[in-house]
Amino acid sequence: MNTSPTTRRRLIIDCDPGHDDFAAIALAVTSGAFEIEAITAVCGNAPLDCTSANALAIADALGTSIPVYAGAVAPLLHRYEFPAAFHGVTGLDSAGATLPPPRRALAPGHAAEEIVRRVNAAPGEITLVVLGPMTNLALAIALDPELPGKARELVFMGGGIVGGNVTPRAEFNLWADPEAAAMVLRSGIKATMFGLDVTNDAWIDRDDLARLRAAVPGANPVADIIQYYTERSGDIAAGRVPGPALHDTCPLAWLIDPTLFTIEQLPVTVDTVPGPHYGATDADRRSWVPEGGARIGVALGLDRPGVARLVTDALVDAARRIAQR
Ligand code: RIB
Ligand code: CA
Repeated sequence: MNTSPTTRRRLIIDCDPGHDDFAAIALAVTSGAFEIEAITAVCGNAPLDCTSANALAIADALGTSIPVYAGAVAPLLHRYEFPAAFHGVTGLDSAGATLPPPRRALAPGHAAEEIVRRVNAAPGEITLVVLGPMTNLALAIALDPELPGKARELVFMGGGIVGGNVTPRAEFNLWADPEAAAMVLRSGIKATMFGLDVTNDAWIDRDDLARLRAAVPGANPVADIIQYYTERSGDIAAGRVPGPALHDTCPLAWLIDPTLFTIEQLPVTVDTVPGPHYGATDADRRSWVPEGGARIGVALGLDRPGVARLVTDALVDAARRIAQR
């Protein structure tokens, strides 16, 4: 999908690469649908020095000059062990070939300040896509409390009514920094949430993986990186799904083709009380709830084959771009 520069949606992508963050950035870049103004990194799947280095390597390997900024080194309050079991100690471990080292450095400045600067420079124009813990966005809102009204909208991967993946109730991105998520959701920003309700089913299958593997002769770091993530999927091991769920691709797939998802407007809260529900998201689906409370869009259904096709096409394109670098 190639749109003219004047009509492309302007994005800032905040992420914690992260294998599925990698797939999401590949989808955003190769779709041709977006002007990606900046990529900002946050600690999440791995420490900030890893996630920011990974984000830079991804942006550079895909042949872009998108500036990459480092952000929060830790959540607002919560401290936790990084989930190296899924993403490896680098946050983007591979089963074989890795991305080439970047030919440029991180851009100077903190991610939160850059989000504030760019949104204020283009009021109503910038869509914020958050694919990791919401710490950078919360800091940006603390720096500029008017930011929520100046961003075009927020689209994020996180939470889930259906339950959690890091505890029975909490999904990782919101569990990693629930206080940041609460600040963002209470800010009144126009938001659409892609939680585990849909992202658990955003998997690609063996044929998709084979198509990716066959995309280029010889070294194929994209296939090897996705293979690493696939080999550590608990849901595949449990037989729940046949292929890797690329959670973070969902917000981008929706921006590219909204028909791929079913969205409901619901009041959503995040639990910040330490205990078994810490980081859990609750959506009140009672129809008689008196008006009030921040209603946000919540994705509750997806066209899985349609999303898988879009994502696999993007990964194949990314593999070919990297092979030609
Ligand atoms: O729960 C899935 C989320 O946690 C994704 O953003 C993945 O990258 C991890 O950060
Ligand atoms: Ca992520």
